[in-house]
Amino acid sequence: MNEDRNKGYLRLEWARSHMPVSASIRERFLKEKPFSGLRVGMALHVEAKTGIFALLLREGGAEIHMASCNPLSTDDSVVTSLREDYKVDVHAKKGESEDEYYEYLHKVLDSKPNIIVDDGGDLVKILHTDRMDLIENIIGGNEETTTGVNRLKVMERAGALRFPMFDVNDADMKHLFDNRYGTGQSALDGIMNATNILIAGKRVTVVGYGYCGKGIALRMKGMGARVTVTEIDPVKANEATMEGFDVMPVKKALAESDMVVTATGMKSVVDMDSMIGAKDGIILSNAGHFNNEIDTEKLEKESVESTQVRESVKAYRLRNGKRIYLISDGRLVNLASGQGHPVEIMDMSFAIQALTAEYLARNHKDLKPAVYAVPETVDREVAVIRLKSQGIEIDTPTEEQIRYANSWTEGT
Ligand code: ADE
Repeated sequence: MNEDRNKGYLRLEWARSHMPVSASIRERFLKEKPFSGLRVGMALHVEAKTGIFALLLREGGAEIHMASCNPLSTDDSVVTSLREDYKVDVHAKKGESEDEYYEYLHKVLDSKPNIIVDDGGDLVKILHTDRMDLIENIIGGNEETTTGVNRLKVMERAGALRFPMFDVNDADMKHLFDNRYGTGQSALDGIMNATNILIAGKRVTVVGYGYCGKGIALRMKGMGARVTVTEIDPVKANEATMEGFDVMPVKKALAESDMVVTATGMKSVVDMDSMIGAKDGIILSNAGHFNNEIDTEKLEKESVESTQVRESVKAYRLRNGKRIYLISDGRLVNLASGQGHPVEIMDMSFAIQALTAEYLARNHKDLKPAVYAVPETVDREVAVIRLKSQGIEIDTPTEEQIRYANSWTEGT
């Protein structure tokens, strides 16, 4: 067995052994085969946890075709093992060019999928632009990220969306854990892996205080950083203040920060002007889906010199003499220079995706082209299985309590 394949195989099996929610769903899928006769086209970060998710859908009867949703997040050893040990059709390699990235997405679509499992929205976008002829085969799909869901909602508002898509991101068992504790841990993992820099005592700015930003700020604080938060939403800015963080505009924050992590889903939140005014030696990274949160194009153009100083860190010298360090070209740091979210977190997120895909397979005839919330029953099922897998019991309300909760006349 070649070394890469063995490494990938072991990573997949390690992930499998820490995914109890998926294991429980697998038992039922193997019996019921909810995806029998259906082809599933997936664009996800191709690494071990995702591999187990793809195999879960196949165990449910689906034919699987998969590409990466990001050119830098692929684990090549997992790709080799998925292809050779599990005979999965995967199109992905770490460091693929932009042309290859799109070529691979098209290869997935060439399989004429019936269900789309997307992360970031590129597969759905291509279907609605270059490959509209394939839409007639599609019964619907689901989308994992904040960024992808925002794109879907724009399509829905514009009347452009042609099939039902489930918003997995906003399921409670997804965003409350994946976005917050998943990104919180994996962004730090990526930054520490890329830089080997001490976080304690550093002034760290987190750009964006959605669930991802909340997780990063929380974990940075836990590691001893002095955390600044920047926001455009006044409610979230208040939340950050009450959590004890300093809140200020990006430009001001960068002038006194040692490190910056973006997590907004918005382009150019760190623009050239802020970089020119930034503290000398600042380390920039992005934990959002796309690599456009830091204006790296302008940084490339306007710097007088650039050097790759570590495997995933590039140093830029600006005209004013300041140095800026950029991790993984501004691509999502948790996967481009880390190992992605912890396995137990992805177990829950992928469980939501698997059960939502099952709901779609069983109910697609009643659905129209729209963005749908994940059914509450799916959220609850994942919550219950997860607690059970941890051996955690909780109370159930008594009949009297249920009556009380549903009455407006009963007083104290
Ligand atoms: N591993 C697989 N998919 C991931 C995602 N969307 N974010 C972080 N880690 C992942």
